[in-house]
Amino acid sequence: MLPERVDNLEIIRWPDPRLKAPGKRIEVFDERLKALADRMIELMHESNGVGLAAPQIGLNLQLFVARAPGQMDEPLAYVNAELTERGGTITSEEGCLSAPGITIKTKRVGKIGIRAQDLKGEYFEQEADGLLARVWQHEVDHCNGVVIVDRMSRLQRITCRRAIQELKEAHEQANQS
Ligand code: NI
Repeated sequence: MLPERVDNLEIIRWPDPRLKAPGKRIEVFDERLKALADRMIELMHESNGVGLAAPQIGLNLQLFVARAPGQMDEPLAYVNAELTERGGTITSEEGCLSAPGITIKTKRVGKIGIRAQDLKGEYFEQEADGLLARVWQHEVDHCNGVVIVDRMSRLQRITCRRAIQELKEAHEQANQS
């Protein structure tokens, strides 16, 4: 289920169909999982992102990494994460490493609880608002096969039509070669 090699994994872009595949639960917590999470953290840093989910590197797994504001050097891996809505809503600009060129105002729950497993399989719970709560919701969306492009309104699609078109063309070209 987990890849033998991780150094060749790269971030894939919308509309790659692998982004639509819902992540499977992770049952084995071994060295391969640790290596995979480390590679995802590396890719997140290289891209100056604040979160990265397994489907974004083509793996349909319930795994994402995120870095918390205030502890930017300490990214965390979340396995089999479940969110609890704790109230409020906040609308703010949101982008995605798998959809470069697209930034849209997205409505999210303001305060969020998360229950997840760490890389050893231990359960932990956290609570967050602001940016981190937004990152969790964005990454859990990825783990369920949802990308911000899927959340766009008709008007947002029109506003971003050039970026959408460019991503589609890049995907077609990559598939032809
Ligand atoms: Ni994303």
